[in-house]
Amino acid sequence: MKAVSLFSGCGGSDAGVVATGFEVVMANDILPYARDVYLANHPETDYQVKDVSTIEHFPAADLLVGCYPCQGFSQGGLRDPNHKYNTLYIQFARALNQIKPKAFIVENVSGMVRQNFRHLLEDQLKLFREAGYKVKAEVLNAAHFGVAQERRRIFIVGIREDFNVEYQFPVRTHGGEGAEPTVTIRDAIGDLPEWPEGEFYSRDFHWYYMSRDRRNGWEDTSRTIVANPRHMPLHPMSPKMVKVQHNEWKFETDEPARRFTYREAARIQGFAKDFVFPETKPATLEMKYKVAGNAVPPPLFKAVAQALPNIWA
Ligand SMILES: C[S@@+](CC[C@H](N)C(=O)[O-])C[C@H]1O[C@@H](n2cnc3c(N)ncnc32)[C@H](O)[C@@H]1O
Repeated sequence: MKAVSLFSGCGGSDAGVVATGFEVVMANDILPYARDVYLANHPETDYQVKDVSTIEHFPAADLLVGCYPCQGFSQGGLRDPNHKYNTLYIQFARALNQIKPKAFIVENVSGMVRQNFRHLLEDQLKLFREAGYKVKAEVLNAAHFGVAQERRRIFIVGIREDFNVEYQFPVRTHGGEGAEPTVTIRDAIGDLPEWPEGEFYSRDFHWYYMSRDRRNGWEDTSRTIVANPRHMPLHPMSPKMVKVQHNEWKFETDEPARRFTYREAARIQGFAKDFVFPETKPATLEMKYKVAGNAVPPPLFKAVAQALPNIWA
């Protein structure tokens, strides 16, 4: 089973695809450091660093996956329905029409279901249906699939019409009745050192950071891991935060506080313990946080890929 991956980043989605049994024959992104991290962990993939719109020919594949950027939709990003990033799904549709894989999976931020972005979501579903796919979309929370993090994302899954089957989204495996216990921050990072020098962003906690509660405890799931380290949630050994007034919080005590390291962020995203961040240029601290925070949690992507019907023979 072969897969082509677009907007591949450091390979969160693709780790899930590989764990499902696919070989990723081609991956693509514009970020050179994302490629370096990806190849340090999956050296067998042909990873092309270039703008997706410049790729003329995509290799044959059974599955196409892609998580086009979300700046236009995300709560943290620019809330502009016409943002230029919003049109990258057209590139995904171009690859879909060229490859005509048996199935495809798209991931994006859940903000896409909000009223003012709804037309963009509808346009994507329309393009994918016109390409000849039965398409379904659903918002899933990574915490329900064995990830120590509250992260709600929309998945769009399509199966080529000639198979005449409908995709069924996976049911939660963690944290519900009859399911396994939720994976906690302690489960994800409890074995890591408390003060790993050079691995956490140590600039001040600016007013915007202090405008909300940023800390969850060891036995909780984490708040959403983001790509910008300034907004990274607090490590649970940091003091609790207490509300002063609307949009103003403070630390309960003067004990030292710090954000999650990029390595902890990757663990909380569900990357394997031995996941490697190579020291290739430009391996800045910000770059490491960025690729880790941009990723799709591998266990979540794996759950979605594993729920595909057996159409591979
Ligand atoms: C949400 S991230 C993808 C994360 C990735 N799927 C993972 O799980 O690690 C979106 C990616 O799209 C890339 N990107 C943005 N514009 C692009 C373009 N024009 N061509 C190719 N990649 C692009 C960004 O650099 C970013 O890594």
